[in-house]
Amino acid sequence: MSDPARRYLTTPIYYASGEPHIGHAYTTILADALARFWRQDGVDVFFLTGTDEHGPKMQTAAEERGMEPMELCDLMAGKFQAAWERLEISHDRFIRTTEQEHKDVVRAFVTRLHERGEIYEGSYSGWYCIHEERYWTEKDLGEDNACPDCGRPTQHLEEKNYFFRMSAYQDALVRHIEENPDWIVPEIRRNEILGFLRQPLGDLSISRPRSRVAWGVPLPFDEDHVAYVWVDALINYLTATGAIDPSAPSDAQGFDDVSASRWPADLHVIGKDILTTHSVYWPTLLMGVGLPLPRQILSHGWWVVGDTKMSKSLGNVVDPLQLRDDFGTDAVRWYLLREMPTGSDASYTPERFLARYDELANVLGNLASRVVSMIVKYRDGVVPHAAADGLDSAITETMAAARSAMAEYKVHEALAAAMDLARTANGYVEERQPWTQAKESPDDLDHTLASLTRALTALCALFQPATPAKMAELAPRLGLDSVPTLEQALALETAGRAVSKGPPLFPRVELAQAE
Ligand code: MSP
Repeated sequence: MSDPARRYLTTPIYYASGEPHIGHAYTTILADALARFWRQDGVDVFFLTGTDEHGPKMQTAAEERGMEPMELCDLMAGKFQAAWERLEISHDRFIRTTEQEHKDVVRAFVTRLHERGEIYEGSYSGWYCIHEERYWTEKDLGEDNACPDCGRPTQHLEEKNYFFRMSAYQDALVRHIEENPDWIVPEIRRNEILGFLRQPLGDLSISRPRSRVAWGVPLPFDEDHVAYVWVDALINYLTATGAIDPSAPSDAQGFDDVSASRWPADLHVIGKDILTTHSVYWPTLLMGVGLPLPRQILSHGWWVVGDTKMSKSLGNVVDPLQLRDDFGTDAVRWYLLREMPTGSDASYTPERFLARYDELANVLGNLASRVVSMIVKYRDGVVPHAAADGLDSAITETMAAARSAMAEYKVHEALAAAMDLARTANGYVEERQPWTQAKESPDDLDHTLASLTRALTALCALFQPATPAKMAELAPRLGLDSVPTLEQALALETAGRAVSKGPPLFPRVELAQAE
């Protein structure tokens, strides 16, 4: 059973061969929004991200730059860390697969598989795409033996590999997916995997000869071979929990009892491109060593540009850090989270980016600035003593809607509900006409201002998972020490709070910047 007070959440670990782009940023920001939302509810969250640093792709990328692989790893891991810092990612651990601890856990894991008779030696003959780090059969290939996924040339390989008896777990995996309808969400992805599992499942090649791929973790039972980079990478989720102690004797390394650790993960957040590795390879490998499976896999959609895939060769990759420099971190986070329905694809356009930015500025930013200005102007900056219940039903309905949307990972819906509350509050200002109340009915004005303060306090909590930096700016302007939780937002007294004005939360920007 999952402990509702503790949750272990992961992103994929990103290939350290390329720069962070908007797709990586989306996955990480989506996971971050969940982490922040759960923490607001008092959940003890452990949030993991990191970089995937082994394999032929890294080796080739380093050669192309005239660098040692480790030099390139350090450089790129640094870039990902810096990117996540600038995008306000609140991870608890950044793991790198070149860490000694991880390499030791990989070796312990494959040793365990080997000892349990799960590995045999075989030979592999087929086509390999370095970019996707995966094999294809001849019938899958495009023209000139191109990779069907990325279009790059594949190479023909014939070599000795070690294989994991993945096929033996096909029935157990299908049963697991059928008995746990929410194990893979959304349903379309679950069906995709069930469809895939209707064909016989093959065994998994888990090694590469060191003569061809030197940059990897050598197998303890044959040092001339390194672990297949996907096997190495998936194990990161386990390493980070500390569940496995590779230095202990083989029967006491922790594979038999993980109850004292964070394993199993509560949620793996991934893109739809890496669904098979996470929902077929990973769970069967875990079955092979006798460990419990992750509790859930959330697979999101793909960001495209217009209707074209983003790619370096097309030169259409959107740089999240440039957008962040032009518009601010929270504008990028808001756009990505609000624009993409979790699970579906979405298309990046500068016009949509600006439209979403305008929403932040004109609805939320405008509400915050007018409410604070009126309290300063009419009540010397102190929220008056009055009932604050003018918008209460809208607030409680929004909180309920946001909670249930977040429980289904529909972050876009939770945020839409929050923005609607800000619209409702702006409508309330128009309806109550505080500027007229100031002259004609001061008691009504007190009620209006107190109610608006309560609504803004709730909005501060509701927007915090998406726009944490701006909400941290807004909180003190509302006379609060810090951003409240949803519960606190409802319970907090409004009367007597000293508010203060500040620069616009979301200053005006021009279309040219978004382009
Ligand atoms: N290293 C592997 C993952 C190993 S996890 C044990 C990998 N890395 S990656 O750098 O290619 O990043 C993959 C992840 O980035 C995808 O799963 C997805 O989460 C995200 N995205 C990369 N491009 C994307 C888009 N264009 N759109 C949305 N997300 C995409 O695969």
